[in-house]
Amino acid sequence: MSVLRNIYGGLKVSQGLLSNKHLMKYSTAASYEYIKTDVVGEKKNVALITLNRPKALNALCDGLMTDVANAIAKFNQDESIGAIILTGSEKAFAAGADIKEMLNNTLASNLKTNFLGHWTKVAESKKPVIAAVNGYALGGGCELAMMCDIIYAGNKAKFGQPEIAIGTIPGAGGTQRLTRAVGKSKAMEIVLTGNHFGAEEAEKMGLVSKVFPPEELLPQTIKLAEKISSHSQIIVQLAKDSVNRAYETTLREGLNYELKLFQTTFATEDRKEGMTAFTEKRAPNFKNQ
Ligand code: CAA
Repeated sequence: MSVLRNIYGGLKVSQGLLSNKHLMKYSTAASYEYIKTDVVGEKKNVALITLNRPKALNALCDGLMTDVANAIAKFNQDESIGAIILTGSEKAFAAGADIKEMLNNTLASNLKTNFLGHWTKVAESKKPVIAAVNGYALGGGCELAMMCDIIYAGNKAKFGQPEIAIGTIPGAGGTQRLTRAVGKSKAMEIVLTGNHFGAEEAEKMGLVSKVFPPEELLPQTIKLAEKISSHSQIIVQLAKDSVNRAYETTLREGLNYELKLFQTTFATEDRKEGMTAFTEKRAPNFKNQ
């Protein structure tokens, strides 16, 4: 259990649900300053990225987001990984962009550096990314969760887009992804007031798919990621791509895109294996081909 304690620090992970067989140090991981990376799950096919900047409640400084982008790129290249989990601590998933770091930014410096431009790397991951949110997910933290494909939350999680209270607006998807997720009236209320809202409200709005007691959040998220990882990675990639298309195009074009991708799956060995396994009443053996 010492590995578990070492990795999770203050996070009270249920030892019964998350035992050593679920968890393995990612031996080839690069060293990062602001995150920890591990490989978890019984088949060691789930990547776990833990934001680790506790003194600033995981405020998303440039270095932290660079670490996250690099880790996601690395896990995307790792054939053994079927899904990636992004999590924080029990107190904070992330309390937003680093206000102290951007305090003296100017329009000119933002334009020259394309400030926050590299945050999109999370949303561009070809492998599914699941956010496991305990504690605060505010501003850029809420936006980071929304860049993920699925959000699971602990019942004490607090979401919000409080940028309005510090004289700015959301800059990493808060006015766009949130509006698509919860509709205009709720998104307006959240963005214009800056009010926080809880996990149960987030679930009711459709922002979060499931809510758990805090200690069950990570084990349950790993279970979800293991289920996704049990499928063919290339078919998962096409399915993710097709769902994402729904956000970016008209219904007619989206349906056409989906149909073409569905037809394309018949060029894969895994489609043949999946359907053959069904007819032979056995589990499929996907080879990601
Ligand atoms: N940036 C930089 N530092 C932050 C931070 C942030 N977003 N959020 C918290 N911190 C730091 C605090 O400054 C404090 O540091 P010190 O101990 O050195 O003073 C430390 O984290 C602990 O924070 P608090 O003492 O404030 O903790 P709390 O429990 O009293 O309050 C909180 C927690 C409600 C989350 C509060 O910290 C807070 O309101 N944070 C800011 C939330 C916010 O406005 N986020 C939006 C940022 S802008 C943005 O994200 C733009 C975008 O769209 C990309």
